[in-house]
Amino acid sequence: MITLTVDLGERSYPIYIGKGLLGRDGLLLPHIPGKNVLVVSNETVAPLYLDKTLTMLSGKRVEHCILPDGEEYKNLQTLNTIYDVLLRNQLDRNTTIIALGGGVIGDMAGFAAASYQRGVHLVQIPTTLLAQVDSSVGGKTAVNHPLGKNMIGAFYQPRAVIADTATLDTLPDRELSAGIAEVIKYGLIRDRLFFDWLSENIARLVAREADALAHAIEVSCRNKAEVVAADEKESGQRALLNLGHTFGHAIEAGLGYGCWLHGEAVAAGMCMAAIMSKKLGWLDSDDADRIKGMIAQAGLPVNAPRELSVERFLELMAVDKKVMDGVLRLVLLNAIGHAVITDDYKPEQLVDSIRASYEA
Ligand code: NAD
Ligand code: GLY
Repeated sequence: MITLTVDLGERSYPIYIGKGLLGRDGLLLPHIPGKNVLVVSNETVAPLYLDKTLTMLSGKRVEHCILPDGEEYKNLQTLNTIYDVLLRNQLDRNTTIIALGGGVIGDMAGFAAASYQRGVHLVQIPTTLLAQVDSSVGGKTAVNHPLGKNMIGAFYQPRAVIADTATLDTLPDRELSAGIAEVIKYGLIRDRLFFDWLSENIARLVAREADALAHAIEVSCRNKAEVVAADEKESGQRALLNLGHTFGHAIEAGLGYGCWLHGEAVAAGMCMAAIMSKKLGWLDSDDADRIKGMIAQAGLPVNAPRELSVERFLELMAVDKKVMDGVLRLVLLNAIGHAVITDDYKPEQLVDSIRASYEA
């Protein structure tokens, strides 16, 4: 087992990464201060991993809440069902909510923990690659609104993250690829060495080779932990973690939540950011091609969906959380391994970049 730390002073917490952590004695209980626990999961993950999770909770009073599966349920209505269970069972302020699942469960259970009785304890047990490398770490929690992705939420850190890599054995290939998109993101925004490693090893990740996956998860979490420790509430460099997300969130909301997976939308969004970076003269053609090639090799989309017009993209992107005083700031690349957040572009350059992103 590898243990990393998200260094946030008194609110610092460990990320445990390893194969077979679910069910391991002594790992979870030290992070649960009170008697009451609510495990939040969904109808796909619970049959696979709820029992193992319960074996780690002996001596606690444990309730569970099993939500429907899908990004289309990541909304206020579903969130309310978590509050219903908390209240019906009279769970108090010293309760710990455990998020057992992918990023959808992590974000919703996390927001429930942030808001129920103004905040109860939270532990993340991520079971998708995407959640293990990104969403379970760093304390962003949210639900979607029909007009914008992740628009209602809070920063709320967990007390621990337990990433059992054995859970990835049951993950569908398409979901694994979606997680690889966020792995590639770290190489692109701040870790050139990791990008070069990915260039050599992307096929091994797709083939689920255990040592390659373990390395990718560790390096990704290390990158994420460093960024979060430096800028917890996204007043600066944390925004770089949103490479591809402004375009990607527009794709998710525009096509309907759940149509493209989050990681797929981010993948196409990163290609769109690369195209725009090239248009601005910041990234050379070879590097833009390398990025597109790697994303394609991971089994991910590299083009914008034609169903979304340029006008629709612009409309959806206008509610992005990086809009400041009416100006949309974008995360772009001025080299592989170096991202910047900028509003230093002309509107027509954004329009041209979206146009150039549709499949030729
Ligand atoms: P997801 O939670 O929908 O999980 C993907 C699918 O895999 C679901 O059908 C799920 O039931 C299933 N699944 C989960 N674990 C499984 C397992 N071990 N075996 C078999 N099936 C399993 O999607 P995701 O990709 O994990 O997360 C995407 C979400 O995360 C999006 O809503 C996105 O906005 C959010 N996100 C949040 C952050 C953050 O910092 N909070 C970062 C990135 C993404
Ligand atoms: N996934 C973006 C962030 O955590 O900031």
